[in-house]
Amino acid sequence: MSKKNPVFPDIIDLLNVLVPVNDKNIDAAPHQAFWRGPPPLTRDQFVSMTTDDWGVPGMLVAPGHPDTSNLYLALSGTAPFDGSQLPQMPDTNADPNARNATEDELNLVKQWILNNAPA
Ligand code: HEM
Repeated sequence: MSKKNPVFPDIIDLLNVLVPVNDKNIDAAPHQAFWRGPPPLTRDQFVSMTTDDWGVPGMLVAPGHPDTSNLYLALSGTAPFDGSQLPQMPDTNADPNARNATEDELNLVKQWILNNAPA
């Protein structure tokens, strides 16, 4: 079951599960391991990231709006991350050590964004 009140560290933990911490492949992505460093990465820094330089313009997180949060669109494989522009993230073809989020994990991310991305 996904948590009702996810907080920022839950999101970071999830990303570190989807892309293992010792996995070097992520360095080849245009965004590298954007959720990792340099530590301590704050909630405000994470939420204010844009994805313009990663191939899709927009906000990483639009608090209250999963449907315009590229984090959620990417993890759920929603357009343009449905293969039309980019694959669902993490790109498991480019990085076989990574895995895609489960339904529960996606719901956690969605709930966090709907709750205005609490720290
Ligand atoms: C939020 C918007 C995102 C954008 C615009 C984006 C964009 C990209 C692009 C352009 C690539 C390189 C081309 C490709 O491999 O298809 C890539 C690769 C990758 N991305 Fe993302 N990405 C996003 C989010 C994420 C997230 C949330 C994760 C992790 C959960 C992730 C993990 C990866 C991985 C593992 C690769 C492959 C790296 C490699 O081994 O070459 N991405 N991404």
